[in-house]
Amino acid sequence: MKSPEPSQRLRALPRYLFAELERKRHEAEAAGREVIDISIGDPDLPTPQPILDQLASASLLPENHRYPTSAGLLEARRRIASWFEGRFGVALDPAREIAILLGSKEGIGHFPLSLLDPGDEALVPDPGYPVYAAGTSFAGATAVRFALHENHGFIPRIADLDRAATDRTRVVFVNYPNNPTGATAPLSFYEELVGWADRRGIVVASDAAYSELYYDRPPVSIFQVPAARTGAIEFHSFSKTFNMTGWRVGFAVGAAPLIDSLVRLKANVDSGAPQAIQLAASWGLAGLPAHGPALRAVYRERRDLALDVLKRIGCPIRPPGGAFYLWGRTPEGETSMAFVSRVFEATGVLLTPGTGFGELGEGYFRIALTCPVQALERALAKIEALKPWKVPHASAPAVAT
Ligand SMILES: Cc1ncc(COP(=O)(O)O)c(C=O)c1O
Repeated sequence: MKSPEPSQRLRALPRYLFAELERKRHEAEAAGREVIDISIGDPDLPTPQPILDQLASASLLPENHRYPTSAGLLEARRRIASWFEGRFGVALDPAREIAILLGSKEGIGHFPLSLLDPGDEALVPDPGYPVYAAGTSFAGATAVRFALHENHGFIPRIADLDRAATDRTRVVFVNYPNNPTGATAPLSFYEELVGWADRRGIVVASDAAYSELYYDRPPVSIFQVPAARTGAIEFHSFSKTFNMTGWRVGFAVGAAPLIDSLVRLKANVDSGAPQAIQLAASWGLAGLPAHGPALRAVYRERRDLALDVLKRIGCPIRPPGGAFYLWGRTPEGETSMAFVSRVFEATGVLLTPGTGFGELGEGYFRIALTCPVQALERALAKIEALKPWKVPHASAPAVAT
C-alpha cells in the first residue's frame, strides 16, 4: 500500500526543531558519554506521598472504575472552587464555571476547536508555549503572533495587541508565570488586557499552569478582574504544583459558556480524566499551604545557584519571577541552535534553543530547573569552563538584580 500522508493541518506545524538535538543525544549516549538534560520542564521530584495514598485508596473503589463525566466529578470541582476562593478571593460556581482536564495541555489544545472557525484568528505570544498556535491551526484558524520583548518584562503592550488584532480575532492567549521567560504579570496588566479585549469583543485565554511556582509575590488570576468573568477562561495544572505531570490532570475555570463549549467538545473526543486521579489531585489542594513553600524553596535554591553562575560568566539574564525556567541570551552573534549544539557537543549538557518557542526566541536559550541541584551544578560548571560569553558582557546592565 502507498504510505499515507498526514493531514495538511499536521504538516502545517512548524518543523520539529529538536530532531537534530535528539539525534546528537542518542549518539552521545550510545558512545557512553554523560548527558545532563536541563532542557525539559518535567519535575524530577516525586508526587507527594499523601496524594499517592489518596490515589491508591480511590483507585480501589469500583465507582471510580467507570467512565468519568466530561466536566469532571462535582466533588473535585467543589474542592477546586474552595481552593480558588481562598487563593484568589474569587468565588466560582463549581457546576458551571469549572471543568477538569486531562492536563492543562489537553484543554489548551482543544479549546480553539470549541471556539474558533476556519478564517478566525488567535493572538499567540512569541516566544510562547507552542500549543496555543498548534491548537489554533488544528481548528483551521490562523495564529497571529505578538511579541514579548525583554525590555518590557516579556509582557505584551496593549498597543501591540491592538495592532495585531483584526475583525477576525476571536481570542488572545497569555501565559504568566511564563514559559519560557519566567516573567510574571501584575494585576494591572490583566485589568488593561480585559478592558481592551472587552472593547474589541475578544476572549482572553489565560494559561496559569505555573501559578503556584513563584519566587516573590504569588501570581494573580485574571478573574481578580471582575469583568473577566464573562469573557475569559483560565487554564490551571496540577502537574507542576504537585510534581504529577505523568498523571495528566488539570482544570479550566471561567465564563460558563466557554466552559460549556469546551466540555461539549471534550464529550466528543475524550471521556474525562480518571476519577481516582481527579479525587487525589483535588484533595491535594487543601495541603498546598504546607507543600507550596517547600516546593518553591527547592526551585529557589536551584534558580539562585544557576543565576549566580550565569551572571558571573557574563550571560545576560533576567531573573524569573515564577515558573521553573531561566531564559538567557546566547553569546553575541551566535544563534540559539548553534549555541545549544556547541554546548552539547563540548559538554554533554542539553539546553533548549529559544527558537523552539517562536522566531523571537532567536538569540535565547532556556534552562529547566527540573534536575537535582548537584546535576545542575555540574552542568553549569561544564558551561562555565567553555567561557562562551565575554566578561563583562556588552549588555550586562540588562541583568536585573
Ligand atoms: C505554559 C504551559 N502551559 C501548559 C502546560 C501543560 O501542562 P500540563 O498539561 O501538564 O498541565 C505546560 C507544560 O509544560 C506549559 O509550559
